Amino acid sequence: MTTTLPLLPARPPADDDLPVGAREHLTTTPFGLYVHVPFCATRCGYCDFNTYTSDELGPGANRAEYAGTAIAELHRAARVLGPDLPTVSTVFVGGGTPTLLPAEDLAAVLAAVRELFPVADGVEVTTEANPESVTPRSLATLRAAGFTRLSLGMQSAAEHVLAVLDRRHTPGRAAQAAREAVAAGFEHVNLDLIYGTPGETDADWAASLDAVLAAPVDHVSAYALIVEDGTRLARRIARGELPMPDDDVLADRYVQADTVLRGAGFDWYEVSNWSRGDAARCRHNELYWANANWWGVGPGAHSHVGGVRWWNVKHPAAYAQRLAAGEGPVADREVLEPADRALETVMLGLRLRDGLPLTALSDTGRARAADAVARGLLEPAAHAGGRAVLTDRGRLLADAVVRDLTD
Ligand SMILES: C[S@@+](CC[C@H](N)C(=O)[O-])C[C@H]1O[C@@H](n2cnc3c(N)ncnc32)[C@H](O)[C@@H]1O
Ligand code: SF4
Repeated sequence: MTTTLPLLPARPPADDDLPVGAREHLTTTPFGLYVHVPFCATRCGYCDFNTYTSDELGPGANRAEYAGTAIAELHRAARVLGPDLPTVSTVFVGGGTPTLLPAEDLAAVLAAVRELFPVADGVEVTTEANPESVTPRSLATLRAAGFTRLSLGMQSAAEHVLAVLDRRHTPGRAAQAAREAVAAGFEHVNLDLIYGTPGETDADWAASLDAVLAAPVDHVSAYALIVEDGTRLARRIARGELPMPDDDVLADRYVQADTVLRGAGFDWYEVSNWSRGDAARCRHNELYWANANWWGVGPGAHSHVGGVRWWNVKHPAAYAQRLAAGEGPVADREVLEPADRALETVMLGLRLRDGLPLTALSDTGRARAADAVARGLLEPAAHAGGRAVLTDRGRLLADAVVRDLTD
């Protein structure tokens, strides 16, 4: 359960009056910046992210002006969080398709981060990219600007699967882009995969995994296809044009991915994420999963600082207008009660390879954890040592285990 902060006006919510309590551990808690880029060349039929294909979104919200608008919010962030600013340990530019913007614009955003905030030595700086939206030249520019990590949306190596997903790249392009990123000097490269797309066969999935292993990447994210309400994919399934992804098939695909990736030296560290060694983990996502602090820049972006969560207005035009008028772009915010924070800790922590201490669970949760061990869903040795850690079978039922332990 969450509550809206009672003593603050609901409209327009101010983001420049962060409650004193939220600042308490500001400089000692890991801090990250997320920058949302809300543009895509075309919308994939399965995707319900806050992204727009038109370039006519209004002043400040068009692609050519967007970096300047995001930088305006970074200035607000530094003002609100200051004067004792937290050190930025990770930056993640996501989308949408960040690489639809010129690499120089993304470089300018990163330069503004460095100008406005203290930045940790060895900061992790990721950008998401669609495989067809990067070139050796743009990658070199990003690398020279300080980007260290590239996350490419590969999804599949099968042409007919990419077609169902409305992806624009050819099957080999993601691996080629990964090679270009390594040649440009990126330290870490990730490929995102989606499994369970209607029409995908076991052989298609095996070929996608093989293609990932043949690419020079140290991180893989594999997600079951989620049929989001309101998407073109959901409408096609409702009309009977495509079948709904089958739960048993999804479970088989997950096991297949885990087996192949582990066999090739990748280890899972979150239910949907595998890396070659700890240094290749995505530290920005780890910061979310640890419920640390982050500021999300951009339309619809979410932030969390010290138990206060807020989110920006969703449309880029409204977002840009607010900033141009010198106002904050926040749509609303809520203060997490201790019980909410405890619940989030369990929901996020249980999906991690390290699991979470049994002391993070309620009395009921602890009793159910013992039961989950008996059912083969939690590791007995870890449980004896005071932690709840999913077994391989438990990972397949991670959402159900989380529900069971938190009800
Ligand atoms: C929102 S995209 C942004 C990055 C980039 N535009 C791309 O498509 O690769 C990030 C990732 O979210 C995942 N994703 C988005 N919608 C999804 C869905 N409905 N089901 C499963 N994964 C999804 C895809 O794997 C995608 O690579
Ligand atoms: S390119 Fe990425 S963000 Fe854009 S619509 Fe497709 S999945 Fe969504």
